[in-house]
Amino acid sequence: MSPMLAFPDAALAHAVSAFETTAAALESIAGDFSAQIAQGLAGAGGSLKMLRTFTSQPTGRESGRVVVVDWGGTKGRAGIVELGGAGAARLVAEEVFTFSEEQKRGAVAPVFDVVAAAIGRVVDAQPTGAYPLGFVYSFPARLEGINRAVALALTKGWRVAGLEGQDVAALLGDALRRRGLERVRVSAVANDTVATLILQSYRSRGAGGRPADIGLILGTGTNQAADLGPAGIRNLESGNFDGVTAVETPYDVALDREQREPRPGAQRLEKMVSGHYLGEILRRVVYDLSQRRAGLRGAAHSAFATPFAVESEHLSRIAADRSNGLDDVDALLRELGATSTREERQGVRALSGAIVGRSARLVAATLLGTLRVLDPVLADRRTIAVDGSLWGGYPGFASLVAGTLVELIGRERADRIEIVFVKDSTSTGAAVIAAVAAAQGSARSSSG
Ligand code: BGC
Repeated sequence: MSPMLAFPDAALAHAVSAFETTAAALESIAGDFSAQIAQGLAGAGGSLKMLRTFTSQPTGRESGRVVVVDWGGTKGRAGIVELGGAGAARLVAEEVFTFSEEQKRGAVAPVFDVVAAAIGRVVDAQPTGAYPLGFVYSFPARLEGINRAVALALTKGWRVAGLEGQDVAALLGDALRRRGLERVRVSAVANDTVATLILQSYRSRGAGGRPADIGLILGTGTNQAADLGPAGIRNLESGNFDGVTAVETPYDVALDREQREPRPGAQRLEKMVSGHYLGEILRRVVYDLSQRRAGLRGAAHSAFATPFAVESEHLSRIAADRSNGLDDVDALLRELGATSTREERQGVRALSGAIVGRSARLVAATLLGTLRVLDPVLADRRTIAVDGSLWGGYPGFASLVAGTLVELIGRERADRIEIVFVKDSTSTGAAVIAAVAAAQGSARSSSG
């Protein structure tokens, strides 16, 4: 028989309340976030990298065929996108590639060979001729031009030896040559947040609307990009924001301290809000509570005893179960190796909801931090383009964020902030960025 989960009620209530965040705490986080944006832009340090992107807003009229690559996690995609102008885009072909755990911790060349092989599978089927390539690299990188991106320390559990400090566009170019794909040229590299922002702008401008102001990813990792006017479109690398100590729990402190990648102290916001970590936080709390009950054999022999065995998809499943007896939570816990009473399932559900609720509230506070830099009194309409599996997959996540914004700034101002879910935006966004780069390049050569 599977071990039982059981927690003392007071300890459960205490753990749930540890994940609650007051409006005052969120206000102060938003203020710190705005201040750190200014600090990063001034080159005065701080936890927000404010990286340059070398791209600008599209007109909405960009057109042509572009090869795209989207890499920022275990699964990536290579494809061909046809931009039709007027905000239209069509995915012509697509190939998925997957990395093994060994590759995620291995050498540089094999990783880029996996990417190049997938590009080969889509390009080989295309008519001859040269193709530009837009490369979405969803890790921190310091761009030195639109097609030169120096890798910084990796995130989301990756550790490719020797990648840091190298130009990922050049590495992809080398891998393409090894694969005999000289006709494909890496013409633009962008972060996924930038691709999401740019795709929303392309669609909107193509239909006569206004461009997006912020791009947000909330999936395995998290990050924001923003159009900061004179400072250009910047990749904030907001997952690294460190102003979260007022709302951290002992579980967050331990999680941060015990991970080698990213190192302790790095990616503090990401470790509290993104999909890679939410299941792990729940696992730690449940395991701890179970251990504290004398005589409980339970969680020690279930998935709750194994780091990262509980995933954010599980939290989505817990939230989606509307049955009286929490039947699907029951089934899920059995899959994870634990039997439970209905009360225990309610406890797990309350905890899971509290952990995700804190994530949504922190996301709202940090978005507010960026919005206030764009417009201190929030007088104008603003558009936030969002993509990512947690945002798209967790029931009600968008409403939690929207509700927190109303709580913090009132309904009238919150109504001026439009949040658009741009599903599967990154590959198509990369195509638009490559097309913008091509247009910028030809404008430069005709004026120079
Ligand atoms: C990376 C960002 C990326 C985000 C979302 C973070 O871990 O550092 O570059 O935008 O994940 O994919």
